Amino acid sequence: MYTHLQLRGSDRPPVTLSTLARMKADGQKIASMTCYDASFAVLLDSAEVDVVLVGDSLGMVIQGYDTTVPVTMDDVVYHCRAVARGLHRPFLMADLPFMSYPSKNEALSNSVRLMQEGGAKMIKLESGGTQIEIVEFLAAHDIAVCAHLGLKPQSVHKTGGFRVQGREEDAAELMIDNAKRLESAGADIVLLECIPSALGKAITAALRVPVIGIGAGPDTDGQILVLYDILDITTGRKPRFVRNFMEGAGTNQQALVNYVKAVREVSYPAPEHEF
Ligand code: KIV
Repeated sequence: MYTHLQLRGSDRPPVTLSTLARMKADGQKIASMTCYDASFAVLLDSAEVDVVLVGDSLGMVIQGYDTTVPVTMDDVVYHCRAVARGLHRPFLMADLPFMSYPSKNEALSNSVRLMQEGGAKMIKLESGGTQIEIVEFLAAHDIAVCAHLGLKPQSVHKTGGFRVQGREEDAAELMIDNAKRLESAGADIVLLECIPSALGKAITAALRVPVIGIGAGPDTDGQILVLYDILDITTGRKPRFVRNFMEGAGTNQQALVNYVKAVREVSYPAPEHEF
């Protein structure tokens, strides 16, 4: 079953890290979205989303918790397996949830679970200076890694809530430095959440690897949003960077197509979505 070789010649070959590197080099924006089940995975695939994340945001939008902290490895594996069944083209990334990577060895064995049981191709972990060694260890075992910087929802009880990060000069400098160190350690993608646009631009320019932003301004190499936010399923107050793509869309499928188009054309994010 040399499926990879067979698909290489198809008109919709699967997205790989090489595809994403090429997109960054060509200045073509990467459209990414979270997903938690097979039915939506099929819709995201046909809307030409490039990267799909089984995020631990599932704790909030699926399970009804007010943070991502209660999410377990079993939860992410379960949802990842479902999403993997619905995908053909997009690159599938899955979150290591809270406290599933306190050591290098636990990070490795839980990444292996996400890949072997869940079908993920890349794992994402909320990072900073203290995760450099873990990223290095995973990379040394040929695991594709996305390092998540900026607002880190798994840390909200320590950091004091869901707040914009990197506004002060020293915090911004530290984030740029950590992003470079994570790239040197072997991170293949950096994800930036909820930071000023100017900082998103500076980090994107400083790195060779693709940078995907959520509330990080229009200058990152790509955008990601939480699926239920853009389909207006999430109730209550939403973050400033969210746009309701159901407006004027009619169907979920059309909303997703409009999202991908807006990301590619850089009409999303607009100034009202920026910090
Ligand atoms: O869990 C998640 O959905 C995420 C996104 C906010 C990027 O990490």
